[in-house]
Amino acid sequence: MSVRLETAVGALRLANPVMAASGTFGYGLDLADLCPPERLGAVVSKGLSPRPRPGNPMPRIVETAAGMINAIGLQNIGVEAFCREALPELRSRAAVVAVNVFGAALEEYLEVIARCEREDGIAAYELNVSCPNVSAGGIEFGHDPALLEALTARCRAATRRPLWVKLSPNAPDLVATARAAVAGGADALTLVNTVRALAIDAAARRPVLANGIGGLSGPAIKPIALRMVWEVHRALPEVPLVGIGGVETGRDAAEFLLAGASAVQVGTAIFREPAAPLRIIAELECFCAAHGVADVRELIGGLQWR
Ligand SMILES: Cc1cc2nc3c(=O)[nH]c(=O)nc-3n(C[C@H](O)[C@H](O)[C@H](O)COP(=O)(O)O)c2cc1C
Repeated sequence: MSVRLETAVGALRLANPVMAASGTFGYGLDLADLCPPERLGAVVSKGLSPRPRPGNPMPRIVETAAGMINAIGLQNIGVEAFCREALPELRSRAAVVAVNVFGAALEEYLEVIARCEREDGIAAYELNVSCPNVSAGGIEFGHDPALLEALTARCRAATRRPLWVKLSPNAPDLVATARAAVAGGADALTLVNTVRALAIDAAARRPVLANGIGGLSGPAIKPIALRMVWEVHRALPEVPLVGIGGVETGRDAAEFLLAGASAVQVGTAIFREPAAPLRIIAELECFCAAHGVADVRELIGGLQWR
């Protein structure tokens, strides 16, 4: 049985529903020999800021049961180097590229978008709103609906490209933040980012990570992420969603589509298996064929709730 894998996130059409997640696939080319970016639905860049950032001190990654905790601290090469060094090859490979954007203040998001607007070959922006806003006392943009709506609206006004907002699972009220992002003009929502977590070295009586707290990712968070996708899909059924959190197999991807996502992103799985997204695409195709699904979009929101 032949299976159509094409999907769309709002106006953006994708050859298949599997993307590489921000921060786990470098700038789209680092793993190109093992996982060519043009074969994925899309690749999402590491979060970019106006200028390069060194990130947090080491250690900043620790493996946990069914996942890992990271506190990379948004290390990146800066938007200028991305546009000059990575984007031309991504363009020549015809990869679909979403740029993940973050900032310590609203103006920094706008600076990154303004620089990217001068370039062809960027299919969408994904706002990482899990960063503290220094001008608002350090509260994360994604934790305050009013702040999030204002940030999204300013970014919306800065581009005509698709704008995705990546929600934090740590926000006090997920659906309220989802509504705020949509009210600000988001075309789609990506959910979720990592879950705040702590690893302790009992012998040393200290946190394992130099930063103390980090973000948990991998299969450990999949059931949380599925619940969040489903809740947002139920509250805002017209809004395109991108599901993320612990996707390791084609069946995991199918679960996120059933919960209401139009596409998925693969993050932590890439650390163990750089070509995981390619395997997941093939497995999703097999899953569909085995279950009589001729078009992968039939799965989207197909969860039957009792
Ligand atoms: C090492 C590492 C770096 C990350 N960097 C970013 C980032 O720069 N921007 C962002 O929005 N998310 C970042 N994330 C979050 C992932 O994109 C993803 O939301 C999260 O890991 C959950 O997906 P997973 O369970 O498939 O890894 C990072 C995750 C990891 C593990």
